[in-house]
Amino acid sequence: MALIRIPPSWQLPERTVTPESAFFNRRRFLKGLAGAGIAGAALPLIGCQKQKVLDQAAIAGTQSLAVTLNPAFAQVDRPLTNELVAATYNNFYEFGSTKTAVWQNARALPIDDWKVEVTGLVSKPQTFDLDDLTRRFPLEERIYRFRCVEAWSMVIPWVGFPMNLLIQAVEPTAAAKFVRFTSYYNPKVTYGPLFPPNQFLPFPYTEGMRLDEMANELAFFAVGVYGHTLPKQHGAPLRAVLPWKYGFKGAKSIVKIEFVDRQPATFWNTLSPSEYKFESNVDPAVPHPRWSQSQERFVGAEAEFSWTEKPTLKYNGYGEYVASLYA
Ligand code: MTE
Repeated sequence: MALIRIPPSWQLPERTVTPESAFFNRRRFLKGLAGAGIAGAALPLIGCQKQKVLDQAAIAGTQSLAVTLNPAFAQVDRPLTNELVAATYNNFYEFGSTKTAVWQNARALPIDDWKVEVTGLVSKPQTFDLDDLTRRFPLEERIYRFRCVEAWSMVIPWVGFPMNLLIQAVEPTAAAKFVRFTSYYNPKVTYGPLFPPNQFLPFPYTEGMRLDEMANELAFFAVGVYGHTLPKQHGAPLRAVLPWKYGFKGAKSIVKIEFVDRQPATFWNTLSPSEYKFESNVDPAVPHPRWSQSQERFVGAEAEFSWTEKPTLKYNGYGEYVASLYA
């Protein structure tokens, strides 16, 4: 994107991925890991700087969630990403544009008494607090691939509930064709945008999708990750997870969900429509204008930022669930 372009630099040494056995032992594995280096990259955005900040503090303050793993999404063909690497390698522009800044600055996000307004073309508009959501919609754990448009990827165990349950609760009218998510924004708190080069960004962050995409079995609202509540940098207390789309489609720290009759404006698509399409399904055959999407850099279970090159999968490997939406 023209305004915030920094050339990507994928110059960290490649390493082999941790063996699959680590995945099956993930609880023990995750608990035992601490301290390591990560690379900071950002924006679909920005380049990589290697940083040695991997820190248990990145998940401080989270609370355990008792959940059952959904057997349909119990594993993928590669190990879980190390929890602390995932918790210190985040994009959340409201809190800055470097990886070090984001997870530390995001601690300022006030998540007590969180409210999510669900409004627009629905028969039952409602404002939920977090307890309402988690009491009403049973939580489950799902292990999903995660693919950023920047061409890095992870495997993340989310905790949450299918978006379709929310659709049923608010009953969209026949006129509703799209949904729009709005993220928390308060310039006194989300001060990343006030610093160059981000002051021109069209906050609040918004994202959107078609209603039939939202009703798909894969579309998920996460309230937790790695068996506990979301650390703020992952988009606490509620964020969207759409594993067949590039990661930027998953709005974090959602405060508003609107059902609308036409395709809504969204953050990245407004900034650079040729680079960040509204649909943005993962597709190895469609390059980003500035880089190929045919391969991805998978960040695995190692307790430091490292990756293994893998071929990108169409729909990020979820074609059996979503290909029919685009027939
Ligand atoms: N949501 C908000 N509100 N602000 C953001 O900057 N970044 C997006 C998405 N959701 C972003 C956001 C991008 S570009 C990505 S890749 C994912 O969040 C990163 O999610 P993670 O940090 O939990 O891995």
